[in-house]
Amino acid sequence: MEKEPQIERPKQYWETIRELEIEMFPEFKKEDIYAPENSNYFYFAPSWHFRRGLVTETDVNDFLSNNTKKFLSVGSGADFLEKLLQKLGINKDNITLSDIDSKNLPPDFKSKTIDMWGEWSDLEDEQYDLIIFPESILINVRFEKDKQKQDGVYHLISQALQHLSPTGIIRMNIQLRDDWDISAIEDRFRKEGRKIKIIFQDKLMEVKNEIPPNSV
Ligand SMILES: C[S@@+](CC[C@H](N)C(=O)[O-])C[C@H]1O[C@@H](n2cnc3c(N)ncnc32)[C@H](O)[C@@H]1O
Repeated sequence: MEKEPQIERPKQYWETIRELEIEMFPEFKKEDIYAPENSNYFYFAPSWHFRRGLVTETDVNDFLSNNTKKFLSVGSGADFLEKLLQKLGINKDNITLSDIDSKNLPPDFKSKTIDMWGEWSDLEDEQYDLIIFPESILINVRFEKDKQKQDGVYHLISQALQHLSPTGIIRMNIQLRDDWDISAIEDRFRKEGRKIKIIFQDKLMEVKNEIPPNSV
């Protein structure tokens, strides 16, 4: 009997990223999470972020086709993801790292020292087209009550919005229940005259300005 021809599944983008990161970073050869000895932190591989949708193939193509777009990573720590974005062709000068601890900021990119839970004053009036929080925001560890969690999410969005270009996107990994009342946060901004759209699914939150039709 003849063998049925094997139909090859098209490779997903994150799988291409996985191959690239294995070449680039020995830390991620075996697994897509790296826990250095003597460190309180563990690091996600770039492919982990692509698989989760924190960064997408469309983002990469947008940055490659428009050299004026700016990228901010909040709580970036070791810059595995950002080095990989540079390898994909994104201009190094368009990438900014930020972290609460300047010792954790590798010298490879521009960087800012900010505490995401405080005022982001080191960013002055800089604007970004994509703002990501690659550190999982452990909202359940930091806050106990629902109201505190709501205020915490509001704070992060509100700080990031001050540095978001009108057509920009904010994305964060965040440990909230999937049935979290997102519309309450949108309403809070609406009362302040700020119209934003939040999509929250599977621990990934995406925030954009509501752009009136015909305004871009
Ligand atoms: C686990 S690492 C970041 C993970 C890395 N971006 C990744 O995706 O694997 C955590 C980083 O977040 C930083 N960090 C912790 N709390 C922060 C805060 N409140 N504001 C900004 N950065 C913070 C830490 O200094 C550390 O470098």
